[in-house]
Amino acid sequence: MARILSGIQPSGTLHLGNYFAMMKRMIQYQEEHDLFCFLVNYHAMTSLQDGERLRENTIEAAIDFLALGLDPEKAHFWAQSDIPEVTELSWILACYTSLGLLERSTSYKDKVARGIVPNAGLFTYPVLMAADILMYNAEIIPVGKDQKQHVEITRDIALRFNGVHGEVFTIPEPQIAEEIAVIPGIDGQKMSKSYDNTINIFEDEKSLKKKVMRIVTDSTPVEDPKDPERCNLFALYRLFADSGKTEALRDRYIRGGIGYGEVKKELFGLIWEFFAPARERRRELAGDRGEVVRILKRGAEKTRVIAAGTMDRVRRAVGLVYR
Ligand code: ADP
Ligand code: TRP
Repeated sequence: MARILSGIQPSGTLHLGNYFAMMKRMIQYQEEHDLFCFLVNYHAMTSLQDGERLRENTIEAAIDFLALGLDPEKAHFWAQSDIPEVTELSWILACYTSLGLLERSTSYKDKVARGIVPNAGLFTYPVLMAADILMYNAEIIPVGKDQKQHVEITRDIALRFNGVHGEVFTIPEPQIAEEIAVIPGIDGQKMSKSYDNTINIFEDEKSLKKKVMRIVTDSTPVEDPKDPERCNLFALYRLFADSGKTEALRDRYIRGGIGYGEVKKELFGLIWEFFAPARERRRELAGDRGEVVRILKRGAEKTRVIAAGTMDRVRRAVGLVYR
């Protein structure tokens, strides 16, 4: 039994990339592991500064997780800001983090290159993420490929801190599911809310149909053979189909004679069916938001005990406790 931790930003509506890279795996882990799953609303503030929306997105993301099967009795499930000790730890860790380490963050550099004017929060984002991970002595961090470097930064910070103060922190490992490392969006780039190319998990029927029909493909004629490995549509299809169906489609691609329109229709049906039970649970949960808030608050209460223990050790180690 390992301690597994990961968080997701409630900065927008959760999509298939979030589901397959992170949420699905996390929900499976709750059965056999010590699971820590949380909504990183402090992190979301680096890009979202509309209080009403942040509040709303946080509840919506909690509803999504619960509808998809996260069980708050089995897992630790909470909203980051309900354990504000993490910001204190983040400050302490910042003092053990070299500027160069943060300057090498590719995620930061990519955002700047895309024209985002960075705030200081965006720059120090990996330090807060390190605090998230180290606070709870997490061992395994399931994330998409784009987050791997952030976990490596966490390791560097923890090793540096432990080098000075002894074995205070557990050194975590990132866990990337290689076969689904990058889920393509409808335009073929990485699916991301910042690229406006997402298919959301709980998309309504009409809009799901529209988005699936818009998935970009090449213009190979129906009768010609097609390369399944270079096709976005196939990459999405295999996430939803069992291996028999996937292999059958692979054959039809290679033999030729199948049109993308036909595949899209089938994919739409698969996605719609796949999330049907969760959609039903979501409807019920959305009708009792009070209960969702109570679940998050209880989760924070339970988890905060661990944070208090870590902060006590850290404050003593660095010299913030005095007599
Ligand atoms: P977004 O790119 O939409 O802002 P986030 O950065 O909030 O998504 O991602 C939350 C989690 O989901 C992370 O673990 C991230 O690696 C994963 N993730 C998001 N989009 C994808 C994708 N298209 N493919 C694989 N993993 C993804
Ligand atoms: N940076 C992560 C993302 O955007 C979210 C995150 C914050 C996280 N703290 C974390 C992920 C701790 C894993 C562990 O996806």
